[in-house]
Amino acid sequence: MSQTIPAPVRVLSEDAPFLHATWNDDQTSACGYVVIDRLITGIATGGMRMRPGCTLAEVTDLAREMTLKMGAFGIHVGGAKGGIDFDPAAPEAAEVRVRFLRAVRPLLERYWVTAGDLGTQQAQLDLAFAEIGLGNTSFHAAMVRAPDEPQVRTRVQQAFSTPMDGLYLSELIGGFGVAKATLAGLEHLGVPVRSATAVIQGFGAMGGSTALYLARAGVKVVGVTDALGMILNKDRGLDVELMLSARTRGGIIDRSALRSDDVELDGDIWLSQKVEVLVPAAVSYSITADNCDLIQARLIVEAANVPTTAEAEQRLLNRGVVVIPDFLANTGAAAGAWWVILGEVDGPDAAYARLSAQIRPLVVHLMGDAARKQISLRSTAAEFARQNAERLAVDYGSVVPTGELYTATQRSATSTPAMSSDDPAAPPRSC
Ligand SMILES: NC(=O)c1ccc[n+]([C@@H]2O[C@H](COP(=O)([O-])OP(=O)(O)OC[C@H]3O[C@@H](n4cnc5c(N)ncnc54)[C@H](O)[C@@H]3O)[C@@H](O)[C@H]2O)c1
Repeated sequence: MSQTIPAPVRVLSEDAPFLHATWNDDQTSACGYVVIDRLITGIATGGMRMRPGCTLAEVTDLAREMTLKMGAFGIHVGGAKGGIDFDPAAPEAAEVRVRFLRAVRPLLERYWVTAGDLGTQQAQLDLAFAEIGLGNTSFHAAMVRAPDEPQVRTRVQQAFSTPMDGLYLSELIGGFGVAKATLAGLEHLGVPVRSATAVIQGFGAMGGSTALYLARAGVKVVGVTDALGMILNKDRGLDVELMLSARTRGGIIDRSALRSDDVELDGDIWLSQKVEVLVPAAVSYSITADNCDLIQARLIVEAANVPTTAEAEQRLLNRGVVVIPDFLANTGAAAGAWWVILGEVDGPDAAYARLSAQIRPLVVHLMGDAARKQISLRSTAAEFARQNAERLAVDYGSVVPTGELYTATQRSATSTPAMSSDDPAAPPRSC
């Protein structure tokens, strides 16, 4: 199928962010950045990554994406992001993380609720918060706004420290949402789930959980990559649960646990595999104008943040490849956390159920809208998310010292559009 979709796919607003800060470590070569794209209800949210080469421009893009994510899901919070240019595998990584957080502590106290991201696990972040004297969770700025702070802290603590199959909510719910979005995309393309194959770049919090829930839904996951390379099994698919049990910190798979017919290959070839679905779930800007013509998949589901450059996406759209953008596909992790923080759900099972009920109708609705308008899914979804974010900012205030973060919860539910909810809440163990 070949189709030219004229709409621009670059949807990130070029407006300057509300605030950005740059930090230079005085003990290593590390630099760090915080960008608050916008405040809503006086607060903003977004993960904190650590990777060599991270830049202020990258963190700015990611912060804008966070505003879109919150808007798309009708959550009355703005977008922010943090990034440290440093190798997370270096022995000094933990100390660098602590020094960075200490430097930007005023933002963490009031404005910026952060979480695990590329190269930073949630548990590492929570430990670093404790070390700088900000309690035991990176959600600190939201906790201190709660009228019933001890109760909210207990709810968050319970939700995020109860393992399921040895993994925690922060390592599972993001990929659960990505898998749900993938199933909606396959349905849109008329591809039966049981005949679909997938390759995933990255096997950390997002990639690992996406692989798990896609496999449980019946999609054959034939390949995954980590920072060391790719593991492929085209004939019978990978044993995702086995590989998760052999995963080390940092999302690296212990090769000694692989089965004899699993093949090890160079990581770069992940995107040229002949499969229905590709899921970028590692670094940003991994699909570019230089490599996008190698893609044979019909559906790309962005588990990573900003993995596809604008030029690459335009060329993919012209070839009829569907791209489900990051701010729809991967918001499960942030939305789930905020639903727990705000008390809109009381624990992991309810968070999975709500995500399940919300994400498929959202993706289906916007895919239909894009098809009707003959514009890209990203364009129509971004417009929807921006309008929602604007409305939330008007309703709850933007730069307010203390908005109605908790009491606003009921009203924010009306900020999502009326869409059919024919997607039954699924049990958390399957997709
Ligand atoms: N963790 C979250 O809650 C969350 C939520 C939404 C989006 N994201 C996005 O998902 C992506 C992955 O985040 P994560 O939290 O899963 O990270 P992670 O650190 O847990 O895992 C990253 C994975 O990518 C691999 N990797 C690292 N560098 C690579 C490279 N150059 N090439 C190929 N693979 C590489 C690692 O080995 C690991 O398997 C990021 O873009 C992040 O912004 C994360």
